[in-house]
Formats: sequence, structure tokens, C-alpha cells
Amino acid sequence: MQGADRINLSAMLFLGIESSCDETGVALVQTQGHAVPRLLAHALYSQIEMHQAYGGVVPELASRDHIRRVLPLTAQVLREAAFELSAVDVLAYTRGPGLAGALLVGAGVACALAASLGKPVLGVHHLEGHLLSPFLSQDPPEFPFVALLVSGGHTQLMRVRAVGQYEILGETIDDAAGEAFDKSAKLMGLGYPGGPALSRCAQCGNETAFKLPRPLLHSGNLDFSFAGLKTAVLTQTQKLGAALHDPNTSNKADLAASTQAAIVEVLVKKSMTALKTTGLRRLVVAGGVGANTCLRTQLNQACLQAGVRVHYPELHLCTDNGAMIAMAAAMRVQSGQQQASCDYGFDVKPRWPLGTA
Ligand code: KG4
Ligand code: ZN
Repeated sequence: MQGADRINLSAMLFLGIESSCDETGVALVQTQGHAVPRLLAHALYSQIEMHQAYGGVVPELASRDHIRRVLPLTAQVLREAAFELSAVDVLAYTRGPGLAGALLVGAGVACALAASLGKPVLGVHHLEGHLLSPFLSQDPPEFPFVALLVSGGHTQLMRVRAVGQYEILGETIDDAAGEAFDKSAKLMGLGYPGGPALSRCAQCGNETAFKLPRPLLHSGNLDFSFAGLKTAVLTQTQKLGAALHDPNTSNKADLAASTQAAIVEVLVKKSMTALKTTGLRRLVVAGGVGANTCLRTQLNQACLQAGVRVHYPELHLCTDNGAMIAMAAAMRVQSGQQQASCDYGFDVKPRWPLGTA
């Protein structure tokens, strides 16, 4: 492990930097022997307000804002955890997938800090960060488990045997669940980010008001498809016209509730099928859509009925954050899956399927 050889493996300090999209996250995680590593401090700056004016993420603005935020956030977590920068043993950063320019900020800063300290660096897969984020919760899961990974760009069911052992059981053949939330919200004039906006709007709606498709619900495999649902939402918004926005009707809330119900039903059904076919008794949900209350309620019910344990990340750690990056790095080193390195010639991987080098 080069630089890390010199340190006490039972209490290694990992600084994690996340900058793949529109949140700058920094965190400190410490290993504790073979136990689950613990989160010492984390800080997050969300760019949502800045991008709202454009209705979505503007990559160049995202990169520039990461540059502004990353060092003050680093100073903040070190202060909160009462550590000097020199105490950090490994500097971890999100290597991909994500926006190239945004990723380069985190990678560049992590490698520069590491080089100045003579400490090793480790590039982390963003989705592995999400996948392992439930280990940051009060009730961490145990391996093996089925994982439902539902982020803005990915929807996958996986068999997870251990850190680094991820077998994809099924995934989306077009849009991700997060994309279905975001695109439907946009069509309804609900703004960005669409998931939370749509789910808020759905709260007082009737989920049976509009008949929307449940794509691939009975396909017999574990793949997903959400593009047809988005088209059905588009058709409904066109049919409703101005009536969609009429405050004297519940049209918008009804359409939001019906859309959410369609997405959630497919996610729950396929997750339960994955548990049945693998024979596993534990489900782990990760990624931004995992914050959705309707999804959590229905998964809880289905898992209770099936006698399956279900684990989620803490609500505030469902969307992008630095804690999951520091945690994934710590768990990879702790499990012997990966060694941090003192080679500071970094690259980033904007497109990077999980499970490939
Ligand atoms: O995991 P994430 O923060 O970023 C990616 O790695 O993509 O996920 C972002 C996605 C977005 O599509 C967002 O609309 C969705 O998660 N999301 C939600 C909720 N909170 C975030 N979708 C539904 N309900 C929510 N409460
Ligand atoms: Zn993410």
C-alpha cells in the first residue's frame, strides 16, 4: 500500500471528496479494525439553487462552483472532527461516472493534497459509494444482499456478496427511475430537481386518477424500462393542456401521484422478484430515489410480508455526498479489495460501468 504501509491499519483516516455532479461533498471516515468504519464529519454544498434558473445542471457552472467550495468544505470537516489535514491517511475522490469537468475538480484537489502530504490517493466509483452508503446508517446491513440502486442515471438490481463483488441481475434498458421522475416533473412544470418536487406534489393527489403503464412489470426478467412511462405522461399533459395547471382542480397532483405510483410499483415488484430468485433475505436500497417516501413505505410493507430485512441510507445521505465516497474507500481498503496509491497521475471516468476496472 506504499504510503499507507506506515500507518495503523486499525484506525485509518479517509478524507472523501465527491464532485461528480451538482453537490460538493467532503467527509472524514475512520476505520476501526474489522468493524464498520465510522463517519466523523461531513459537509455538503448543494448547487441546486444555482442550476434552478436553467431547469437542469449546467456542467461548466457545476465545475466552477466545485472549485469554490471544495477547500472551505475540507477545512470545515477537519475542524468539526478536530483533526489536522496531516492526520489524513488516504485521500479519496469520485473518479466516475459523472460530469468530466466536475470530476476533475475533486480528483485534482485530492491528488494535490495527497502529493503535498506524501499520502496515498484512491479513486472511487460513485455508484459503489451509493451502494455502500447504508453502512453509514445506525442499522448497517450485512453481506450478502440484493441491492436496488436507484439514482438519477442508473436503475439496477444487484446481488452483492461482499465489497467489490457485484453481480448485475437486471437494469434499465432506457431511462433510469430518477430520470423518469425528473422528466415527468419537467413535463408537469414542477422544476428541477424533479424527484423531490414530484413527490411533494403527489402528496395530495389520487394515484388511481390516471392510468399509466407499468413497463416490463410482467417481463419475467429483472430489467426495467421507463421511457414509455415518460411518453404516457407527455400524452396526458398534452390532453390536459391548461387544465393541468388549473388551481381549481387536482389534475397536477393526481398526475404526479399516478406517475409516482407507476414507478414505485415496478421498483417494488422487481426487487421482491430479485429476492425470491436469489433466495437472499436482505434488501439494500441506495441512490437518490431511495429518499422517496412512497417507495420506502411500499418496500417496507412488501419486505415485512416476505420476512425480508430492508436497509436504507439515512435520508440526508441518499443523494450525493462525500461520506459515501470516504466510506467506500475505507471499506475497499479494509477488505483488501483495493490499495491506495502514491501515483498522483490521475484520470477520471465520466462513463464507467460498475464492476469494471
Ligand atoms: O443518487 P443521486 O443523488 O445522483 C446520481 O448519482 O444520479 O440521485 C439523483 C436522483 C434525481 O433523479 C432525483 O430527482 C432523485 O434522485 N430523487 C428523488 C427524490 N430525491 C431525489 N426521486 C424521488 N423522490 C425523492 N424524494
Ligand atoms: Zn449519485
